[in-house]
This record gives sequence, C-alpha cells and structure tokens, in this order.
Amino acid sequence: MTRRVGAPRAAPMRMTMRTSATGVEAPPWSIRPERAIDLDQIHDLHRTAFGRPAEAELVDAIRSGPEFIPELSLVAVADDGSVLGHVLVSHVGFEPDEAGTRAQVLALAPLAVLPPHAGRGIGSALTMAALEIADARDEPFVAVLGPPAFYRRFGFVPAADHGIDSRYGDVGPAFQVRARPDGAPMQPGVVIYPPMFEAL
Ligand SMILES: CC(C)(COP(=O)(O)OP(=O)(O)OC[C@H]1O[C@@H](n2cnc3c(N)ncnc32)[C@H](O)[C@@H]1OP(=O)(O)O)[C@@H](O)C(=O)NCCC(=O)NCCS
Repeated sequence: MTRRVGAPRAAPMRMTMRTSATGVEAPPWSIRPERAIDLDQIHDLHRTAFGRPAEAELVDAIRSGPEFIPELSLVAVADDGSVLGHVLVSHVGFEPDEAGTRAQVLALAPLAVLPPHAGRGIGSALTMAALEIADARDEPFVAVLGPPAFYRRFGFVPAADHGIDSRYGDVGPAFQVRARPDGAPMQPGVVIYPPMFEAL
C-alpha cells in the first residue's frame, strides 16, 4: 500500500488507495474545495466523527461569517460524491504582546474523517493540502487545538514555545502553532478565537 500526502495547489489531489490496513476495500478519493452540494454531508460528517453537534455547528457558523476562506474548506470525496473527510482553516484574531495592531492569523478547526475511513491517510492528506494553501497566503502562522501526536508531523509545535497563548485557558501542548515555511519569526501574543468556538 502506498501512502502519499500533500497536494499540488492547482490540481485536485486524487488517491487510488484500494484497501485499508484491515483489508477492507476503500474507494478512491480526491481532495478539492467544498461545493454547495457537499454542505449537508460535511455537517453530518462532523456530527458523526465527533459524536456531538458542536463541531458541525461551528463549521456552519464560520461559513456564514467573514472568517470563512472558501479555498480553505477542503473535502475528501469519493467518486460517487460521498464526502469522506473535511478540514476547515479560517481566520481568527491575534493580539501581539508588544504594542501593535490586532492582526489575523489562521486556525485549523475542525478536521474530521468518517470513522469507517479513518486510518487511510485522509486526515493527513487534508491537513497537508490545507497547509499548502495556507503557506501560499500572506498569513503569519496557523494555530490548532488538537492532539500533538497527530499535528506535530505537519510542523506544529506547542504555541507556548513561541510565547503564544489563547483564551481557552490552560490547554497545554494541545494548543499548537505552525510557522510559515519561509521561517518568518512568530511574535508572542494571544490568539483570539471568535465566540462561536466557545462551544468546543
Ligand atoms: C483525527 C482524524 C482526523 C485523523 O484522520 P485519519 O484519516 O484517520 O488520519 P490518517 O489516516 O491520516 O492518520 C495519520 C496518523 O495519525 C494518527 N492519528 C490519527 N488520529 C490521531 C489522534 N487523535 N491522535 C494522535 N494520532 C492520531 C494515525 O494513527 C496515523 O498514524 P501513523 O501514520 O503512524 O499510522 C480522524 O481520526 C478523526 O476524524 N477523528 C475524530 C475527530 C477528531 O478528533 N479530529 C481532530 C481533532 S482537531
């Protein structure tokens, strides 16, 4: 079984992995920006993967607000149009510690893969594809709140290493940031998630 992650920005990435680790047939899938026809499936996917409505409702709320970035809402879809995974990267606020104007940074949330399709590289491929698009934009860094064991493989490090905090309280190493690939330094400061994130 071959695993390839990362997607060229211009062309949709297509995977032809046929079997999972358990030998179950898996459909070919590809990654592309979400379309209107995907929205109900994206909602249901998050409800199922997280086992609660909060993340699905967060996606809907972000999509209807100014923080939404259409090219950074990506789906992994099977040939029949089934949405197998989704990742959303949107704008959040950032207040530098040193006197400066409030800025915008990116936050990756949420990311989910339909449970029967977990472990097939879909979550990694969605993350890599989103980060590749994020890297091509003029954004200071990407923040994420999630398992370090998963996100560190994509270059995320504890935000505290860079003096970056959030208003989530003490979430420890789960709050991570990823610098731009050009090595531009990250300023210490506080990431301000919009109120709609509070339900998480
Ligand atoms: C987390 C999730 C998105 C991973 O997607 P996936 O398609 O199963 O991930 P991949 O197949 O690309 O797995 C890549 C690696 O990450 C590991 N991994 C998966 N989920 C992980 C987790 N929660 N914590 C740590 N590592 C994890 C896998 O074991 C795999 O490791 P390996 O390469 O050493 O075998 C998916 O399991 C999911 O939707 N979970 C429920 C929702 C969730 O927790 N989202 C993330 C929170 S922000």
